[in-house]
Amino acid sequence: METLKRTKVKELLNSTAYGTDVIVKGWVRTFRNDKFIAINDGSTINNIQAVVDSTIDETLLKRLTTGAAISITGELIESIGKGQKVEIQVKTLEILGDSDAEKFPLQPKKHSLEFLREIAHLRFRTNTFNAVFKVRHALAFAIHQFFNERGFVYLHTPIITASDAEGAGEMFRVTSLDFDNPPRTEDGKVDFKQDFFGKSTNLTVSGQLEGELAAMALGEIYTFGPTFRAENSNTTRHLAEFWMIEPEVAFNDLNDNMNLAEDLLKYVITYALETCEDELEFLKNRLLEEEKQKPQDERAEMDLLAKLHFVSSNDFIRLSYTEAIEILKNSTPNKKKKFKYLIENWGADLQSEHERYLVEKHFKKPVILTDYPKDIKAFYMRQNEDGKTVRAMDILFPGIGEIVGGSQREERLDFLEKRMQEMNIPTEDLYWYLDTRKFGTAPHAGFGLGFERLVLFVTGMTNIRDVIPFPRAPKTAEF
Ligand code: 4AD
Ligand code: MG
Repeated sequence: METLKRTKVKELLNSTAYGTDVIVKGWVRTFRNDKFIAINDGSTINNIQAVVDSTIDETLLKRLTTGAAISITGELIESIGKGQKVEIQVKTLEILGDSDAEKFPLQPKKHSLEFLREIAHLRFRTNTFNAVFKVRHALAFAIHQFFNERGFVYLHTPIITASDAEGAGEMFRVTSLDFDNPPRTEDGKVDFKQDFFGKSTNLTVSGQLEGELAAMALGEIYTFGPTFRAENSNTTRHLAEFWMIEPEVAFNDLNDNMNLAEDLLKYVITYALETCEDELEFLKNRLLEEEKQKPQDERAEMDLLAKLHFVSSNDFIRLSYTEAIEILKNSTPNKKKKFKYLIENWGADLQSEHERYLVEKHFKKPVILTDYPKDIKAFYMRQNEDGKTVRAMDILFPGIGEIVGGSQREERLDFLEKRMQEMNIPTEDLYWYLDTRKFGTAPHAGFGLGFERLVLFVTGMTNIRDVIPFPRAPKTAEF
């Protein structure tokens, strides 16, 4: 016995080594009829059943409550019950950690996601979150594998920066100054020269600018790290702290950029389908249950698995912003004034209601929109010959809206400097960025994929706070 090692539940459930002794460690999910323990150890969303008989001490069994951590040894036997192939006939049972049954918030019943969000420190112990975080892991792994196979270099860009990459100014400040008594300049402003970094700094909104520097020598790089935005967006698709994947490729144009993004998305979705079968099956059924609450005509046309197969095996629609505006202008919700923001003129910024109309109602496929008006896009995008649009691309997904934002970059120094001046972007502070355009400048392109939006899509969850372990959002930083 002493030489036995713990076997994971996942392995045991696939085993046919009946008659052998095994050790299982995990947490009690349910204990029924003083006889059947359902044990989960996190290795799979499925539990293994352990059966106890009268040889096990009664006082021990009394302590066997939902949530308790236990270690058992026993014989693996073929199960006669339905739903499982194997079970364990318990020989010894040890309680590693009791669980106060009265106070344990997770009872063996369905809890709402809102409630589980309030106990995010315990929600890992549910099947839903086990499945979500397994899929999240698989997607992260697939992203690294995709880029590694293609010779990209994984670049770690800084989290603390002194620049505003998106020029939108929605940043969290980083400082070690004394808030109650900061040093002041002669004109009464806070003197950041005396701050830790000798200048005003913040948490990064994007690793792109640094990514471009590296791409101008390494050729193909990608970043995959945390990103911070202090925008006060209390929506189901925004986080204040989210993870972003940002590839940047020398000599790529907008078309190459679209191909790379489409390939990446299809690759990682296919990887999840192949490696997370149990989890996605569970999430599909979870969603089907939820759909039953909705009226017939509001239910999804495809289940989760069908949707993932559909997206990974069909070409995305590609069209220009100008074409999209025409479609939206003439759309029924626009004519019937159903959109919150009506589309009247070329130049209007697209809201998520418009993006979702294009994807879910009009094309019924993922859509890549290109060549947006320059005034609604960032300073670094390459300007088109028309003088009005830039070589931008946004990828729009069903149920999500924008999942990717990117562009071909403005590689011409004079165009870039002029645009920065027009948009009040300080050229002196970004001298290092402009240097790439002075020394061996070259066409290049890249994009940012919002990792949580990807996880949202693949898991079929509906709130972005349910696909990151500990969400950061306005008034939310509990755990
Ligand atoms: O469109 P965004 O702002 O683009 C950039 O940051 C560029 N620097 C990317 C690049 O070209 N290298 O953000 C990219 C993606 C969005 O499409 C969205 O998926 C996600 O990041 N995103 C967010 N995800 C969650 N919460 C937020 N507040 C997000 N803001 C953007
Ligand atoms: Mg964007």
